[in-house]
Amino acid sequence: MIELAALNAHHGIPGQLTFIEGPGGLVVAEVTNAHASATLVLQGAQMLTWAPIGQSPVIWLSRAARFVLGKSIRGGAPVCWPWFGAHPEDKTKPAHGFARNLMWQVSGSAIDPDGAPQVKLRLQDSDQTRALWPYAFTLELSVTAGDALLIEMSTTNNDDKPFTITEALHTYFAIGDIHQATVTGLDVARYWDKTENFAQHTQSGPVKFEKETDRVYQSDSETTIEDPAWNRRICIAKSGSASTVVWNPWIDISRKMEGMGETAWQGMLCVETANAMEDGVRVQPGGSHVLMARISVEDR
Ligand code: BG6
Repeated sequence: MIELAALNAHHGIPGQLTFIEGPGGLVVAEVTNAHASATLVLQGAQMLTWAPIGQSPVIWLSRAARFVLGKSIRGGAPVCWPWFGAHPEDKTKPAHGFARNLMWQVSGSAIDPDGAPQVKLRLQDSDQTRALWPYAFTLELSVTAGDALLIEMSTTNNDDKPFTITEALHTYFAIGDIHQATVTGLDVARYWDKTENFAQHTQSGPVKFEKETDRVYQSDSETTIEDPAWNRRICIAKSGSASTVVWNPWIDISRKMEGMGETAWQGMLCVETANAMEDGVRVQPGGSHVLMARISVEDR
């Protein structure tokens, strides 16, 4: 068990950032201040919750989520890295890579100029990661939880050979009703439809939801979730990202999916800031790449 007292002494910020023992004994960074409340679990550097003060949750966390060491938690913002989806050659390797299942280290904390707490977590290669992916790396995730939620993930290649990653900030959003929700900002973008064996299409108008939706869009644009049921919109600005993944499992898959809950799909939607499919990122020895998502919410 990570020593909570030592973590709080080194990185805690009195009244704003506290490390606590969360469900399943997992260590959680808890932010509460005048701007927002948020939680981030050290395992997987996974955001669990975030809401500006006065708003209902913006990040969705399943009520049926299981908190188990070494397993991704259903909801929040899991980190998919160094591959997105199934491993391209070896389906026995973990889906969405290994970063979301491993314990990260706290590498820093601060208050940004607008008064929002910032937490930095780091993951480095180990025997366990090199058995799955044979490269030396530093992965750093920085979260700034204020009126807006800023997630920045930087990949550094510490190896002597280049590597290529695919990745995603697999963000689950809380919405009032999937049947009424739409996603704008992807008009005319090309996408691969995973529900049609990766058939390629071009988006026309806003994305609407009438069935299982699982698409990888080629797009570096900002997207907006329009949520008429809750009378608000969620804006997702991004950089370092050539793909946006849009996912809702709908009824049948939700029933079979671990930690999801039977009806929960009606109140969630994933819009993922990613580099996937053809848009993997090549990182040279000594080089870095930064993926950034900035999430904000406003009334409609
Ligand atoms: C999405 C994928 O990003 O993640 C879906 O596009 C997948 O195909 C979903 O089902 C959830 O993945 P997991 O591994 O967390 O159950």
